Amino acid sequence: MRVGVIGGGQLARMMVPPAIELGIELRVLAEIEGSSAAIAATAVGDYRDAATVLAFAREVDVVTFDHEHVPQPVLAELIAAGVPVRPGPEALAVAQDKLHMRERLTALGAPVPAWAAVHDASELGAFLAAHGGAGVVKTPRGGYDGKGVRVVRAADGADDWFASIDEHASGGALLVEELVGFRRELAQLVARRPFGDVAAWPLVETIQRDGVCAEVVAPAPGADGLMDDARELATSIATGLDVTGVLAVELFEAADGGLLVNELAMRPHNTGHWSIEGAVTSQFEQHLRAVLDLPLGDPSPRAAWSVMVNVLGGPAGETMPDRYPGALAHEPGVKFHSYGKESRPGRKVGHVTATGDDLDDARSRARAAAGFFQN
Ligand SMILES: Nc1ncnc2c1ncn2[C@@H]1O[C@H](COP(=O)(O)OP(=O)(O)OP(=O)(O)O)[C@@H](O)[C@H]1O
Ligand SMILES: [Mg+2]
Repeated sequence: MRVGVIGGGQLARMMVPPAIELGIELRVLAEIEGSSAAIAATAVGDYRDAATVLAFAREVDVVTFDHEHVPQPVLAELIAAGVPVRPGPEALAVAQDKLHMRERLTALGAPVPAWAAVHDASELGAFLAAHGGAGVVKTPRGGYDGKGVRVVRAADGADDWFASIDEHASGGALLVEELVGFRRELAQLVARRPFGDVAAWPLVETIQRDGVCAEVVAPAPGADGLMDDARELATSIATGLDVTGVLAVELFEAADGGLLVNELAMRPHNTGHWSIEGAVTSQFEQHLRAVLDLPLGDPSPRAAWSVMVNVLGGPAGETMPDRYPGALAHEPGVKFHSYGKESRPGRKVGHVTATGDDLDDARSRARAAAGFFQN
């Protein structure tokens, strides 16, 4: 069984250990030599080039992804060549464009913030006036880690993005949403096989700093009353959009206690990294099982609490292992994951996970461990 992953980032890298365990051959089409997934990178090439992607796909049984940026015309060529692509092009299209995502979620009846497609400052101004004078403007395409997301309080607040709209929007519009006064952010991850089986991990709490995921607590503390709703919501989205593999549903817990969908990702997700140590079946193993249409594993937690803390930035030019002597000595119970990347301010270079019976203890150990890699 051969799985081909397009994209050589840390998500592809973290599929390697379960692939080895299960005896699945993993091949990666990486963007560059020396990518995060270089250990499994059997090809290096441009994922926007159909011939490159087709040649890679011919050597595997199923194609899946480390990111959602493979252009639709390239995906169409894969389908025409008879390659199983999971998730499929229609599902991926929803993850590729935040406006399309809002349209589809609304059509599915999923709870979402008030939103609109706006083409110019006056349309933006009208939306702001109708929603308390503030909103969140998003570029439909190409955003990540909070880039392409901006809180605006004036009609001219997105003029620079309107001026360069073709770079980040398909229909010549930006997405604007109400500024949600959420209590906290949550994420529900599920995995789905091609013909329907779905497995759900527990709902988790995610803490963002500067628009970037900083910390994840599994399960979400004090959220027992939301677990069933979140699982049913994510399952209905996965089914409604015909997602194969892992689907991450980023959620807001609104001021009234209800759930609102922020955005979707159709691949393993930062908010599921805790599952490597914290669940019977990790998101990376489950993704491989799902895209190969194998029976799904048990997603139950293996510990009362898991806390994952991202390692962001750190001294330029260093890698995480440079600091292992101190960090590993101090936190022998914490699990360390380096993505094989050199540090740069704000860059996700790895993460750490602590598990245990006591949430405060797990959280302080994980934070202490991550602290060793920050300046
Ligand atoms: N409508 C909103 N109201 C309030 N805050 C929001 C809203 N939309 C986004 N945010 C905040 O901005 C963060 C980033 O937004 P979003 O998830 O859309 O962007 P992204 O850059 O694609 O994210 P990611 O880091 O997941 O790639 C959210 O996690 C949330 O903290
Ligand atoms: Mg997000």
